Amino acid sequence: MKKVYFDNAATTPLDEAVFEEMKPYMLEYYGNPSSIHWHGRQVRSAIEKARKKIADLLNTSPSEIFFTSGGTEADNTAIRCTIEDYGVKNIITTPLEHHAVLHTVEMLAKKGKVNLDLLDVDEKGRISLDQIEQLLKKDPNTLITLMHANNEIGTMNDIHAIAELSKEYGAVFHTDTVQSMAHFRHDLQELKANFVVGSAHKFHGPKGVGFLYVNHEKRIQPFIHGGAQERNMRGGTENVYGIIGLAKALDLAYANMDDHKKQIESVKSYMIEQLKQHIERVSFNGTSDDLENSLYTVLSVSLPPSEDNDMLLFNLDINGISASGGSACSSGSNIGSHVLTAIGSDPQRGAIRFSFSRFNTKADVDYVIGKLNEILTVSA
Ligand SMILES: Cc1ncc(COP(=O)(O)O)c(C=O)c1O
Repeated sequence: MKKVYFDNAATTPLDEAVFEEMKPYMLEYYGNPSSIHWHGRQVRSAIEKARKKIADLLNTSPSEIFFTSGGTEADNTAIRCTIEDYGVKNIITTPLEHHAVLHTVEMLAKKGKVNLDLLDVDEKGRISLDQIEQLLKKDPNTLITLMHANNEIGTMNDIHAIAELSKEYGAVFHTDTVQSMAHFRHDLQELKANFVVGSAHKFHGPKGVGFLYVNHEKRIQPFIHGGAQERNMRGGTENVYGIIGLAKALDLAYANMDDHKKQIESVKSYMIEQLKQHIERVSFNGTSDDLENSLYTVLSVSLPPSEDNDMLLFNLDINGISASGGSACSSGSNIGSHVLTAIGSDPQRGAIRFSFSRFNTKADVDYVIGKLNEILTVSA
């Protein structure tokens, strides 16, 4: 059976060139980078080269890049250390954030450590800068934590404008850039954020490795205590081959970004066109069908109400199609997508998130549209 992988916002396949770069650090260069002997020094030097590569690509300094176990740890570190180390008393965020952010800020609010303000979002998941400014005027001793690109509905925030606002009021700005890293060019000298995040497995790198950019103007204490790794900022022996793979994956992404973007956008726009042509009463969630103003890797599709909507992903799966979804939560139920619920999506409609990578083709789209049509016809 043909297999189609349309779940690239969840994770992406490892690029073979990335794997080749990692391999020697699995087999040959196995020293502990903290060891001062030859075996250790080879590995230390490779880690520092990887850090320099990432810093160069993002136009920042290697001293501002700290390796982590991925996006979740980087988000946790930024948020929890801001509250702990800077004495910040307020957090501004939205109900649309990834759980790595949302659950962290909710925990801090529950423990009484911060006052939490959730911004209003419109039906497409957009926020208002005015509302942020009103809150900052009340108390600028605030952490603003807002994602760049939403992983479920593709809606994007203007992080440059938010960063400017944050700087103007002397607030702290953390942006979860997990979904946009390597898909958009980030210039960290230009972007006035305090914290920026990357996770390798979202751009054809290995799982379990990422980084946190910490702007040099405001440093934090370690979140994970232990050895002196990461210049005393993050204890624990480094995920050496993960770090090597992360740098290689980011390098490849930057070198080919325009081509990859063009390829992915052509698959996405073809999918939008085919869905509109073949699926009755289809609509799209967030800004995901707006090619100019959305994360180009994500398309969130909304299907007419049907008793069989609960089975949509299962039916796609048995036809070899991997996607993800989850409708808005029906009242009182805790299951479903917190993002679709927050933008007021109809819980009776089916929702599927298709997310693309440069390895997808229009033939994949044709296959998915054919199968989706069959599934919807049977259930009609
Ligand atoms: C927006 C966003 N933030 C954070 C994460 C967590 O990243 P990781 O899987 O590297 O912990 C994800 C992963 O799905 C994500 O999409």
